[in-house]
Amino acid sequence: MADRKVDFLVIGSGIAGLSFALKASKFGKVLIVTKSNEDESNTKYAQGGVAAVVDKSDSFEKHIVDTQIAGDGLCDVEIVENVVREAPDRIAELISYGTSFDKEESGLYDLAKEGGHSAHRILHYKDITGYEIERALLEQAHVDPNIEIVTHYFAIDLITQHHLGEYVDKNKTDITCYGIYAFNTFSHHVDKILSKVTVMASGGAGHVYSSTTNPTIATGDGIAMVYRAKGKVRNMEFMQFHPTSLYNPKDSPAFLVSEAVRGFGGILRRVNGESFMEDYDERASLAPRDIVARAIDAEMKKSGIDYVYLDITHRDKDDIIKHFPNIYEKCLSIGLDMSKDFIPVTPAAHYLCGGIYVDDFGRSSILNLYACGECSSTGLHGANRLASNSLLEALVFAHRIFLDATQLVETISHISDVPEWDDSETSRSNEDILVTHNLRECQKIMSDYVGIVRSDFRLERALKRLHLLYEETEEFYRNTRLSVKLCELRNVIQVAYIVTKSAMLRKESRGLHYTTDHPQHSQILKDTIF
Ligand code: FAD
Ligand code: SIN
Repeated sequence: MADRKVDFLVIGSGIAGLSFALKASKFGKVLIVTKSNEDESNTKYAQGGVAAVVDKSDSFEKHIVDTQIAGDGLCDVEIVENVVREAPDRIAELISYGTSFDKEESGLYDLAKEGGHSAHRILHYKDITGYEIERALLEQAHVDPNIEIVTHYFAIDLITQHHLGEYVDKNKTDITCYGIYAFNTFSHHVDKILSKVTVMASGGAGHVYSSTTNPTIATGDGIAMVYRAKGKVRNMEFMQFHPTSLYNPKDSPAFLVSEAVRGFGGILRRVNGESFMEDYDERASLAPRDIVARAIDAEMKKSGIDYVYLDITHRDKDDIIKHFPNIYEKCLSIGLDMSKDFIPVTPAAHYLCGGIYVDDFGRSSILNLYACGECSSTGLHGANRLASNSLLEALVFAHRIFLDATQLVETISHISDVPEWDDSETSRSNEDILVTHNLRECQKIMSDYVGIVRSDFRLERALKRLHLLYEETEEFYRNTRLSVKLCELRNVIQVAYIVTKSAMLRKESRGLHYTTDHPQHSQILKDTIF
């Protein structure tokens, strides 16, 4: 693919990018660029399901309150209301695209329960809900003549006034996105893609940490791109660690053992078999994730063992296999029968609650640029996301962006005179191993010092070390022929830096940010904005 001009440019082919594309295609040509295979995304690996009020015994009010309790005071109430109330319509659309959700024999949806939810409200397809959603959305996109998906295309940077020779600083109020520079990983050429409207749907950043449930695409690229373009990012200190990834040091990424297993009766136990969550929270194993992950971390530190156990052995074997066929198979592959054996589990980086700052229609602080899904910060999750609210957030915001962007697109023309990508000063490196080393080092710094429990001393230590890595990587980037690994490293380090700086700025403990130096809530509620 050479240089292109399009109406709608979407970066990413997960639930956020595809949901938007399927709607916008009725109003113009949509080009989706995606850096790996078209289905490779966090979406594909989602297990538990999508939260929505569909049962008569449940209510919007309860879902709103649960979301706010999990968010520990920092949710944007209006956004929570919008997302929860619009959920049933978006779910109906997803079903109309061909997504299946499990039903009971009665014909009603088999709704699961997860941590922090006061009702059974999680629609799911076995324990592979994300795979099913991604399948259905891609099938729809393939038959839509106005949608083109180009795979193995890596978005490097947003094109703004900076590339036209203007000085752009963070106080400029009309920074405008004209498209992107993208790296074709087959031809090794950098193309210009000019767009009227751009939607960043590039997903999360789990690979900022050594152990994560996220596939390798989750390197925070979109957030780093917006940060470099002087756009706003918010609340990046809130990295959610999923309490129960399967403890198996050979797995990278870590395999998730869905929270739905606890919703199905799973009990967390010490290595000596005692149940322990009651000592930490009255909701026990179904407390919100920040609380459960911290409790497991404390138990692991006490025992000196890198895992605790999850016990579902009291449930009927056939029921376990029916609800969790994928998890059952995975456990079996490492010699565990979860209907008889306890499952060793350990927390792993899972979901970034912060991200690109957007308003109630997904508009970022950069003109003509929207952000949707995990790369965005809408205000829904506050300081800690309620389980299964993220697929929902992507669906609701894809719709809201569609409503706004299809009006905006009518008012915009492409610009000319955007320069070609200049790599004349770079040369091929024979030291690619340095990229791998720096990535590992960055991930280790983040896991050691900016993990579940933080302190001023640890954060300062992390920042000093990250600074060194940043300088080294930037120099390497300036002088070396592009590669995806190098671009990803640069993005990971920039995101790690923002997470650490944001954590340093929050002098309190709230939600997912817990620091031993400031263990209480502050009286003042505020977002961290970069
Ligand atoms: P993604 O689905 O991650 O898609 C991002 C896309 O952007 C990918 O196509 C990627 O290749 C592309 N991309 C990234 N960078 C670039 C670049 N530089 N250039 C081009 N393309 C790029 N949430 C729930 O609500 N319920 C669940 O049950 C649930 N379970 C989960 C289980 C696991 C194991 C994981 C990892 C997450 C889970 N989540 C769950 C979270 C949820 O899956 C994600 O938050 C959501 O799918 C994100 O969707 P997205 O479209 O924003 O991003
Ligand atoms: C899970 O199945 O436990 C993941 C749910 C989520 O991350 O929302």
